[in-house]
Amino acid sequence: MWNDLKTRAAALGDRRIEDLFQDPDRAAAFSVRFGDMLFDYSKTQLDDAIRRALLGLAENAGVTAQRDAMFTGEKVNETEGRAVLHTALRNLSGEPVFVDGHDVMPAVLETLSRMEALAQDIRDSEITDVVNIGIGGSDLGPVMAARALAPYHDGPRCHFISNVDGADLADTLARCDPAYTLFVVASKTFTTIETMTNAASAKAWLAQHAVPDAGRFVALSSNLAKAAEFGIPSERVFGFEDWVGGRYSVWGPIGLSVMIAIGPDGFREFLRGGADMDAHFRNAPLAENMPVMLALVGMWHHQVLGHGTRAVLPYDNRLARLPAYLQQLEMESNGKGVVMGGGDLEGPSGPVVWGEPGTNGQHAFYQLIHQGTAVVPCEFLLAAQGHEPDLAHHHTLLVANCLAQSEALMRGRSLEEARAKVAGKFEGDELERQARHRVFPGNRPSTTLVYPKLDPATLGRIVALYEHRVFVEGVILGINSYDQWGVELGKELATALGPMVEGVEGSDTKDGSTRALLAFVHAH
Ligand code: F6P
Repeated sequence: MWNDLKTRAAALGDRRIEDLFQDPDRAAAFSVRFGDMLFDYSKTQLDDAIRRALLGLAENAGVTAQRDAMFTGEKVNETEGRAVLHTALRNLSGEPVFVDGHDVMPAVLETLSRMEALAQDIRDSEITDVVNIGIGGSDLGPVMAARALAPYHDGPRCHFISNVDGADLADTLARCDPAYTLFVVASKTFTTIETMTNAASAKAWLAQHAVPDAGRFVALSSNLAKAAEFGIPSERVFGFEDWVGGRYSVWGPIGLSVMIAIGPDGFREFLRGGADMDAHFRNAPLAENMPVMLALVGMWHHQVLGHGTRAVLPYDNRLARLPAYLQQLEMESNGKGVVMGGGDLEGPSGPVVWGEPGTNGQHAFYQLIHQGTAVVPCEFLLAAQGHEPDLAHHHTLLVANCLAQSEALMRGRSLEEARAKVAGKFEGDELERQARHRVFPGNRPSTTLVYPKLDPATLGRIVALYEHRVFVEGVILGINSYDQWGVELGKELATALGPMVEGVEGSDTKDGSTRALLAFVHAH
């Protein structure tokens, strides 16, 4: 199947994407609608035959059976022997979901209502600042969602400390009043060194200001014993099970700071949006299934055509942290070279994902996207409406820029067109030289996801869309998208290096580069 796709890729020759629009129905035929969202992948080289072949990959890999296995609590995270049920966290219907014969929904819904009661208490209290301390999935989801939903933010100010660099803590606490600040310690394991170090320093900060820490800490964790050891009473601890992966955890307790910011009703809307996407993913035929088609288009670009990276470009400034969130979601999930059975993955794993909001990126790295030698498939996201009716002219410019970029990527500018641009300013060889610099190769693929407005339910749909995309890619590659062994080695070495940085222990066993770097640090 891969070979068939590779043959089709090789046979493309110099076919131009824009020529595919000779089919007047192409835009409709090569897009997926779900509710009020539209995913347009018509500005790619996909044609009917390529799409059929890609769908064949999904069928052959058993995506539908694996999908059903995931939703019904089977242990699809095989290397860790765990179910994968972040979808249960947004299953507001309460329809039973079984793990090892036990319905997990009563406990999920009970935790949700405890979170709602606490969030409301905090919103009604004198607390002015809530500081989420967490990293990775215990930071990126909440920080991304809190920023995305700023227009709905009517609770206390929210801050996020993640980095072990003391600068993160110091700069954040400088903006907070210890008398009115609450800390939310978010850590699935409650052992992550960055989070534990920051939480301890937050405790010390309260003590320095003679503020008792009773009532000033909340824990979000699967490790109830460690949270208790830190001194947080059980009624302020919100647990979740090992079937919620860190990077999939914003839907449950880890989302508490978002709930405090926008209120329990807004947070339920976010969950509802995620659940809507779940229902679509479970029921829509593969060719009309948004996560499936998003995944397949991505695999066409990366695994078949060999484009090494994927840019995520939200024309929605409040999604500024979405690319960072997706870096963990996609790269921690699918950045693996070993398949489920232990053999080597043949072919590339998931791509490098990166991006910045438009229009800022246009004034930075779009030069390379348009004229660099590497083709970067672009994923644009665009809201039809903004939240600022008084600034509608800004939104018009934003939309125009987004559409212009995908058009420019596809059409490019020929040498003749470039010559016409500079004719009159230059002549002869100089005209030719100047024109060459103004040529855009075009024929560069992009997709666009459009939605009416970035409200909580829409954000829920978008996040769940990307989660399921990662799942589909993982199944087709045959890898386990739910473990993350690749983060362990660095953590172990950092633990061993700590005393060497302090100068307590010698570094004789280290390589020459590490020794030289340590020596420089010691010297300064
Ligand atoms: O180091 C990777 C990781 O384990 C991520 O998967 C996770 O999101 C992050 O660290 C934080 O982990 P925790 O929530 O346990 O502190």
